[in-house]
Amino acid sequence: MTQDEPKAVPVPASEPSDAVASTPGALAGLSRRRLVTGAAGSALAGAAVGASITAGVLADGAPAAPSAVATDGADAVDLTASVPFYDQVHQGGIRTPPQRHCVYMTFTLADTATRQQLQVLLARWSAAISQLVQGKPIGSVQPARPDAVGGDTGEAHGLGPASLTVTVGLGPAVFGKRFGLQSFKPALLADLPRIPGDTLKPELTGGDLSLQACADDPQVAYHAVRNLARMVTTTARTHWVVLGFGRASAGPGQETPRNLMGFKDGTRNVSSDDDYERFVWLKDAGWMTGGTYQVARKILITIETWDFDRISDQQRIFGRTKDEGAPLTGQREFDTPDFALKADGEHVIDPTSHIALAAPENNAGVKILRRGYNFTDGLNDQGLLDAGLLFLSYQNDPQHFIELQSRLGRFDLLNEYIRHVGSAIFAIPPAPPAGRYIGQELFE
Ligand code: HEM
Repeated sequence: MTQDEPKAVPVPASEPSDAVASTPGALAGLSRRRLVTGAAGSALAGAAVGASITAGVLADGAPAAPSAVATDGADAVDLTASVPFYDQVHQGGIRTPPQRHCVYMTFTLADTATRQQLQVLLARWSAAISQLVQGKPIGSVQPARPDAVGGDTGEAHGLGPASLTVTVGLGPAVFGKRFGLQSFKPALLADLPRIPGDTLKPELTGGDLSLQACADDPQVAYHAVRNLARMVTTTARTHWVVLGFGRASAGPGQETPRNLMGFKDGTRNVSSDDDYERFVWLKDAGWMTGGTYQVARKILITIETWDFDRISDQQRIFGRTKDEGAPLTGQREFDTPDFALKADGEHVIDPTSHIALAAPENNAGVKILRRGYNFTDGLNDQGLLDAGLLFLSYQNDPQHFIELQSRLGRFDLLNEYIRHVGSAIFAIPPAPPAGRYIGQELFE
């Protein structure tokens, strides 16, 4: 089992006080409860907050939610499973076998945000995430005093942890002059350049902070982001969000799911330990060691047009068969594609098919970890299905994504049916040890 695969880990009773004990400088006076319930704390008068939190449900030993098992194709999903947050080296939600649902949100830091506010936010988020991944609320759902506001919004009350992971990202602007963090800037973090084919919308592009909440229960993922967004108060505001409703990537041992184009997605992906070391995790990178870079792209699919395309054309576009997911040069899903094979003088796998352009064989061996989700926004203003792929990739060099997408953006046969409308890049710090918070090194 890898370090960040789901497994139930009881949190030691001493953990909350450890968290407080090691909280430095300006944060030292804040109790862990206050960190966790920061949103309510800032929204309410102090005394009332104290009372409501005391009556809350943060105490260790809070009842775990009831058990339930759902199935995902051949994969059984245990909604009581939990993924640990502390002491994992890498944040969850990257190597964690993809959960079934995802809520992805980015935030913009307020012009008035201070370095200390950023620090407090990261500390509060970390403390809250450590509770949420255990299926615990982050404050009182039903405060004792009638005039108090709940510390937790309540909609996950009674639901299991559902393997929730929340992955926190820091955008390029965090490391600008204003917070005095320039010397900590991850070496390869920079806004993505314009990439051929991009039709990005400003309202879906960029961000200073990101949250990727993945869970096997969509309400658990939504609850996590909603409650973390509630904590940003005046420090930041929400920027863009995608509600992913079905995974479009596979982890080891998982059946390969399908994207909204009906094709298996995730067949050839980063999967071995060696691949993760070579292509995903940062090594010898100072405070970012064990971290990585996240690229997010919101990609629209013109579904109605695609659905009228001939099957032979659909298969030519991907270079794979639709039912089995086999390369057009093979029989079975995991057969290795033969990009050189010709029949009647023509390549069997079109050199401008999606897989021919993206495969490591044709990109100097480069791989990126894809961890995408299908999404829908309902109908667009023309009454057409508004849906697509929330493409999420992790790589230890953003240039790997940039080069791949530059090729795809120019030549991919798939481009007739897709449009990149959203985009962002974030540095993903390593996971904190128990008692610390994500990015704490920046403030020491
Ligand atoms: C809506 C957009 C996209 C769709 C529907 C899509 C779908 C697919 C499908 C069906 C496969 C074949 C199965 C597999 O090996 O996983 C695939 C493979 C792949 N895709 Fe995409 N993809 C999209 C966007 C992208 C983007 C933006 C990138 C990177 C910039 C990318 C990189 C790859 C890579 C590296 C492979 C594996 C190729 C191989 O090794 O054979 N895809 N994609």
